[in-house]
Amino acid sequence: MLNASEELRLQEMDSIFLTHYGRAAEVVLRAPGRVNLIGEHTDYNDGYVLPAAIERSMLIACSPRTDGKVQAFAMNYNYSTLFSIEGVQPTSDTRERWSNYLRAMAWVMRRQGIEFTGADCVIQGDVPLGSGLSSSAAMLVASGLMFTSLAGAVIDPVKLALLAQQAEREFVGVNVGIMDQYISALGKVNHALLIDTRSLTYKAVPLPETGVSMVIADTNKKRGLVDSEYNTRRSECEQAVAILKNVYPGITALRDVSVEQLLAAEDELPDSVRQRARHVVTENQRTLDMASALEAADLKRCGELMNQSHESLAHDYAVSCRELDELVAAARSISGVYGARMTGAGFGGCTISLVADSALEEFSEKVPALYRESTGLEAVLTVTRAAQGAERIR
Ligand code: GLA
Repeated sequence: MLNASEELRLQEMDSIFLTHYGRAAEVVLRAPGRVNLIGEHTDYNDGYVLPAAIERSMLIACSPRTDGKVQAFAMNYNYSTLFSIEGVQPTSDTRERWSNYLRAMAWVMRRQGIEFTGADCVIQGDVPLGSGLSSSAAMLVASGLMFTSLAGAVIDPVKLALLAQQAEREFVGVNVGIMDQYISALGKVNHALLIDTRSLTYKAVPLPETGVSMVIADTNKKRGLVDSEYNTRRSECEQAVAILKNVYPGITALRDVSVEQLLAAEDELPDSVRQRARHVVTENQRTLDMASALEAADLKRCGELMNQSHESLAHDYAVSCRELDELVAAARSISGVYGARMTGAGFGGCTISLVADSALEEFSEKVPALYRESTGLEAVLTVTRAAQGAERIR
């Protein structure tokens, strides 16, 4: 189902589709962005994550073609692209970066034997780009749904998430975990998903429907270092596993190490590797604890866990930055804020705060002002409920 703002966006897309292609769009798909409540940098360690899909999405309106070509008009860029499915290649043209996701998904789906004969499409999104809210996962998952729909096929959403992850890894070139694609494909209204990234199963955890809101605040600091630092963190985690295996031969990932086990063996690890492992191992536990606290409607405990997660990401995992820290501090200075932390890969992007509804007004006035004072930057706030995952609308 579309929300009111998506309905409006789709009306405009329909009319642009008609002008652009001289016919109506037969199929419409939507895939949401996400915010992670807790469980950061745990997904590539086989661990737990607790994200929710948000009320910001990628919409694609399309109709089939029969000549093996995909033509797409991206409304956000006022730019068209055309490629043949057969010879699909990534492109280094910077105006075409967005269409790489479409190409990537076409390539991955073809390799899976999903046969489609081409498409005309119009794409429009309101997930902020480069802000750590997974606009790329939303684009990949929506494109994947489009190609399956056009092939007259049905796809299991976990499979769709895995293919989207593959596209991002192999074609776009970032070695990401599964969280973003999974939550975009499987999100549930008013729920966060406690995802076990090893078994790829989840438990839906209800979010409070009244009294408290999830507030996303964008630092407006575009994430710079993220790709190379991301891969460095991954290899530090692998290094930790290789060393800890000497002490605990049964382990295959940091997911298998308990907080107590790590404490008992941490002298074996070089300094930075020890810190990275400490973040992952404690964050896994916090994620499980947060799911229990949400189920018990213990918001105070949720807030404490979110605060601890931020400190761990800032000091042990070293993926925060001054802007994220300032925004988190500004949020925490408001009474009525249960907790605040960075969300996503880090080095910029967004924070997430759990805010009592009675404090929302004060939050919107004071947090951006405090942040402006300390950084000179404008924070952009979004209050969101948890949204449904990807779906075919028409
Ligand atoms: C990015 C990746 C995810 C996850 C987060 C950090 O969003 O795409 O797989 O690793 O960073 O938690």
